[in-house]
Amino acid sequence: MQLGVCYYPEQWPETLWADDARRMVELGITHVRIAEFAWSRMEPRAGVYEWTWLDRAVATLADAGLKIVLGTPTASPPKWLVDSMPDMLPVRADGTTWNSGSRRHYDICSEPYRRECLRIVDVMAQRYGSHPAVVAWQTDNELGCHETVPSYSKAARARFQAWLARRYKTVDNLNQRWGTVFWSMEYASFDAIELPNLTPTDANPIHLLDFRRFMSDEVTSFHREQVDVLRRHAPNADMLHNFMGFFTTFDHYRFAANNSIDVATWDSYPIARTEVIALSEEDKARYARTGHPDVSAFDHDRYRAIGQGRFWVMEQEAGPVNWAPWNPVPAPGMVRLWAYEAFAHGAELVSYFRWRQAPFAQEQMHSGLNLPDNTLSPGGREVARAAQEIAKSDALTKLAQSGPAPRAEVALVFDYETQWMFEIQRHAKGFDYQTLAFEYYRTLREMALDVDIVSAHADLSGYKLIVVPGLAALPAGFAKSVEQSSAQWVIGPRTGSKTADFAIPAQLPPGALQTVLPFKVLEVDSLRPTLQPTTTFDGVTGIALHWREHIETRDGLDVLARFDDNWPAIVARGHVRYASAWFDAALHRALLEGAARDAGLAVTHLAQGLRVRRRGEITFAFNFGATATEAPAPDNAHFVLGQRTLGTADVCAWISA
Ligand code: GAL
Repeated sequence: MQLGVCYYPEQWPETLWADDARRMVELGITHVRIAEFAWSRMEPRAGVYEWTWLDRAVATLADAGLKIVLGTPTASPPKWLVDSMPDMLPVRADGTTWNSGSRRHYDICSEPYRRECLRIVDVMAQRYGSHPAVVAWQTDNELGCHETVPSYSKAARARFQAWLARRYKTVDNLNQRWGTVFWSMEYASFDAIELPNLTPTDANPIHLLDFRRFMSDEVTSFHREQVDVLRRHAPNADMLHNFMGFFTTFDHYRFAANNSIDVATWDSYPIARTEVIALSEEDKARYARTGHPDVSAFDHDRYRAIGQGRFWVMEQEAGPVNWAPWNPVPAPGMVRLWAYEAFAHGAELVSYFRWRQAPFAQEQMHSGLNLPDNTLSPGGREVARAAQEIAKSDALTKLAQSGPAPRAEVALVFDYETQWMFEIQRHAKGFDYQTLAFEYYRTLREMALDVDIVSAHADLSGYKLIVVPGLAALPAGFAKSVEQSSAQWVIGPRTGSKTADFAIPAQLPPGALQTVLPFKVLEVDSLRPTLQPTTTFDGVTGIALHWREHIETRDGLDVLARFDDNWPAIVARGHVRYASAWFDAALHRALLEGAARDAGLAVTHLAQGLRVRRRGEITFAFNFGATATEAPAPDNAHFVLGQRTLGTADVCAWISA
């Protein structure tokens, strides 16, 4: 359980640095991330390097005993570089070009820009790669942020065509698999293929999907090129990238494959995230000062999988931020709670954004551990408290040294391509796959279950309950592994609804899954809010939202619930249940609870806003709710942190004797 901080020495007088470093250590901070936006100071003019200031900053931090994470500066190219190659600016879907003057103003497909990135990274890595205090490198910053991916530039078009040629080999093959006979879209050569923007009506969905696959690969290769340079000069350092919450622009599993990262790190802004994602107004209001209780947990669990067990929070909100429509001050206690929450989910390190609030420029309204006058902020004081508690607790210290969090008993499959396919063809306004996945996730957590979020390609053996909130195209062998599994499965709507080429499977949805679940989807009922098919399951009555399938069942399938117009709502065979609709919260609860009980899992109904998470022998409880509540600890619990009664924003942890 280590703490870190993001620090920008270039933004402060050098006279402050040593004192900053000393105070960081005093606070309990072990790691400091620097330099990720400092290109204009590293290289003020083309080829003119100024490393001495960074040498002194690194030395000052290292002398204080801090471990350093160095960021490559490629998210903020300096103006002289943009002026020398204006084509490096990214192009939006409407054909206009982003301007410089903020950050991320580069086209990820620009080969000249990529060469510039590798040049600065190489020089930087040569200089600091063997520095003993530099323990990790972060590439760029939040790849894909600010909607700069995809870029619709000329470079993107050329590289997309080359990507298609590699994938399809011949243009005839592409024409056949894309179904370009439709609307006379047939191509005579790969270089005739345009980017799928600015079309009068929908572009071909497989064209859009392949463009998203291509862009995902571009993000991955942009990072990978830098990592290859960094590993040459810094073979012992951890390679990182700071991912974002609720972010699906690229396939993070593919990004992290082949040793491209050593630890998955991500940036956690729970209050702002709660404000900007698709939650009900009621939830947004209820959790305005705490963040929704599952918002950070969802990404902790996702990034634990992406990092194959190793994850950090690289940027943790430590007070009000500046980028949501409203940015309330967190309830007192939340900054401390978020640290324990991350650790409970297996984080090795929680690093705060940022050391000190900057009184100038874009983020002057964004808090840090210190106020602009250099006194600890309210959040900074909570971090100090958490650091002291951890240092004093043998149980927490032992937990911190215990390695990655053990496997949970419940797995939830999350698939990036499914997100893209359902975005490309929503078919029902409001159908968002990630939101549905989050609905399933929160329902499981409200029942006090720990969840691993996993890829559809992961080894799922050993889990007791496997939840698939929807999986557009089934990976080869997926149906067989469902059939042979000894777990209970809950499979959501639209699973097996498409082939990998974005077509309806020949045998109709759910495609290959028909060998496990003998039914087929005849028609899809896209539901406007006034259409509310009703069903009752396990004594719970509720409605379908957004989406329902009319399914024709065959022998061997049990119908567990029907809608009021007789269409099956929940069907099952043996250990596999299928939901033919997106249900309301009460029905999702009934569906998942039945499966959890059949899986032999202990289900506890937690009070509103209360969450638990086990790591090793310690169980943590967190109260995001507005009123005091009791942690669901057994009578013989030995509390290693806090106590059974939890006020708002309070946390406790115990070992069962
Ligand atoms: C992140 C970003 C940081 C900072 C922060 C503010 O998205 O990586 O540089 O801008 O947001 O919340």
